[in-house]
Amino acid sequence: MIKFPKDFYFGSSTSAEQSEGRFEGDKKALTTWDKFYEVDKYKFYDLIGPSKTSSVYRRYKEDIDLYKKTGHSAFRTSISWARLIPDESGIVNEKAVAFYKDYFTRLKEENIEVMVNLFHFDMPLYLEEKYGGFVSKEVVYKYVEYAKTCFSLFSDIVKIWFTFNEPIVSVECGYLLQYHYPMEVDAKKATQVAYNMQLASSMATKEFHKIVKDGKIGIILNLTPAYPRSNNKYDIKAANIAELFASKSFLDPSVLGKYPDELINICKKHDILPEYTNDELEIIENNTVDILGINYYQPLRVSAKANMPNPEAEFMPSYYYDPYIMPGRRINKYRGWEIYPEGIYDIAMNIKKNYNNIPYIISENGMGVEDEKRFKKDGIIQDDYRIEFFKEHLEYLHKGIKEGSNCFGYLVWTGIDCWSWLNSYKNRYGLIELDLETSNRIIKKSGYWFNELNKNKGF
Ligand code: BG6
Repeated sequence: MIKFPKDFYFGSSTSAEQSEGRFEGDKKALTTWDKFYEVDKYKFYDLIGPSKTSSVYRRYKEDIDLYKKTGHSAFRTSISWARLIPDESGIVNEKAVAFYKDYFTRLKEENIEVMVNLFHFDMPLYLEEKYGGFVSKEVVYKYVEYAKTCFSLFSDIVKIWFTFNEPIVSVECGYLLQYHYPMEVDAKKATQVAYNMQLASSMATKEFHKIVKDGKIGIILNLTPAYPRSNNKYDIKAANIAELFASKSFLDPSVLGKYPDELINICKKHDILPEYTNDELEIIENNTVDILGINYYQPLRVSAKANMPNPEAEFMPSYYYDPYIMPGRRINKYRGWEIYPEGIYDIAMNIKKNYNNIPYIISENGMGVEDEKRFKKDGIIQDDYRIEFFKEHLEYLHKGIKEGSNCFGYLVWTGIDCWSWLNSYKNRYGLIELDLETSNRIIKKSGYWFNELNKNKGF
């Protein structure tokens, strides 16, 4: 039997933009996702944009009952900046305050620990249009004001906070790969956004420690261990560089207070160092996080570049390496991602060895499945594949904990099936099915299993 500590959290994660819904009369401002949909709805799977959610804003009370039924002792979501502060006046929207207060209080009353993240890819449009989002330092300062407002309003209920979810995704998808608005390809802007987001995170951490005396704050990072194709020194070098960009770019400054020299050197070489001041670097150095959220889905596998890149070419991290399709790797055939549960153990050991064994929670892990309705029998989705996926990852996480890794919980992505950026409802991840036509919520087999998991603190 795999047994976790008594106070180990089991629960799920979602985000504001992916679950709440807009509800016109209640003043939520538009985000970059509304704009993106307006300019190019054909990029969104089945043409479903951000306004089609499970309407948590209206239905959170019944959803909390479902979280109870599926054994949640913790739940993570985000606050919508565009809902809380809907315009540049900075005046808070009282309807948003009432909603979040009631939502978080009711979770707490059900003994579900609420963990709140401040930013999950959802830039208010008024800040994007006026300043260009996190390209600008103005938005860093506005974010810090927003963070302070959240801490003052909700820290009596919420004790575990995060500054950002997967900031590297905003950087890559918005400024290199064209998957998120503003869909630019501009390496200089990309590094500026990355640096500004880190600065915003460190400044918010500083303010948090002034305002909140009985809580913890961290950042949520999608850590993707990079494995080389072979032991050849060029493949190993390629893997190190992949890891620098994919993981260390935020992990090092957030936990150790310092950027890796090698990353700085590469940025210098390509003339893409962001604008910074020594005072800002000092803030980053002195305001490291208390905890981490770690999202893990799949690793990176890389090999040395087959042809040496043209030094004049537009810079991309992948300038230095090629993806490597490892023969025989296991694949989630319903989503196309590799399944490699050992990766979670490698992350645990890396954090123990190189990052002061900082306490962390697995803040996302899960299995997306296309067309999941086909697995329905007797009215319930029989998602045994997902239960197996969780079990395998928990076994490796447990091994890490036994060897001294400081993990305090495991949150799956997600509770109720949610809308997901360009993929909309293509990949379902939930413990609870969302019927898109009726908006009904139906617990899947994995939801019942998860309830037993938390009851027994193991399986
Ligand atoms: C995570 C994000 O990286 O992946 C979530 O934090 C997202 O917001 C999840 O929904 C799943 O992504 P996808 O593309 O498979 O729906």
